[in-house]
Amino acid sequence: MTQLPRIPSFSLAGKTALVTGASSGIGQGCAVALAEAGAHVVCAARGVEKLNETVAALGAKGLSAEAVSLDQNDLEAVEDLIGARSFDIVVNSAGLARHAPAIETTPADYDAVMGLNLRAAYFLSAYAAKAMMTKGKAGSIIHISSQMGHVGGVDRAVYCASKHGLEGMVKAMAIEWGKQSIRINTICPTFIKTPLTASTFENPERRAWIEDKIKLGRIGEVEDIMGAVLYLASDASALVTGTSMLIDGGWTAD
Ligand SMILES: NC(=O)c1ccc[n+]([C@@H]2O[C@H](COP(=O)([O-])OP(=O)(O)OC[C@H]3O[C@@H](n4cnc5c(N)ncnc54)[C@H](OP(=O)(O)O)[C@@H]3O)[C@@H](O)[C@H]2O)c1
Repeated sequence: MTQLPRIPSFSLAGKTALVTGASSGIGQGCAVALAEAGAHVVCAARGVEKLNETVAALGAKGLSAEAVSLDQNDLEAVEDLIGARSFDIVVNSAGLARHAPAIETTPADYDAVMGLNLRAAYFLSAYAAKAMMTKGKAGSIIHISSQMGHVGGVDRAVYCASKHGLEGMVKAMAIEWGKQSIRINTICPTFIKTPLTASTFENPERRAWIEDKIKLGRIGEVEDIMGAVLYLASDASALVTGTSMLIDGGWTAD
């Protein structure tokens, strides 16, 4: 009888995952995806109320989750959390945008965007990988980057800088950590309906720009990201590192 190949497992049973930005939008979707696949999910964000609501809703579905209040710009707090736990999977979805023409960007906006989207992402990755190495365990680190990590966008010079930086960072870290079986990748969504993008969709000019660029003809939903995070977190992607999964409806195809 022909020996058929076996499909790798998408199960995350027995795994512990940290999901940042888990109280809203894409991060909340990622928390659900990982918990549905069997992981225990530590949900992090600053606002405790929304975080607790998310964890309660996960619990009501019979899923395993807990809430941890965390400001990711507080690197000491991030390092403490990582050191105190044993994460197999880290999904970093906390991020922010301050859109403005490049000549109007203030240093404060620059620092806020680069601080969370790149500086905090950098050290979260480093602390997580170091902890995995110390414990001798394999791991998967996934950053929610953006299609704007691959192309430019109107009023998005700082945001694009932070996400292009994230893409380069992930490639370099993948080279360093591959031998220890620590994988690191990004997911790059197009425009997804979340609180972050609400103001963009209220602008008819911007909405027309978005709908014109997305070849599949619709704006993304959080659900569009959930399969990708499960794939990158699980053994199904065991040979995938240092790369970027574009979920952009064809935005970057031309
Ligand atoms: N929505 C899109 O169209 C889109 C497209 C491409 C990429 N992305 C990226 O996807 C990620 C998530 O976006 P989203 O649309 O889901 O955003 P969102 O709905 O605004 O959620 C952001 C999450 O990050 C948390 N957060 C913000 N600042 C934080 C901080 N300093 N420390 C810890 N947590 C913090 C927020 O909770 P608290 O405020 O309570 O802390 C919230 O849980 C971002 O990196 C974004 O750049 C989004």
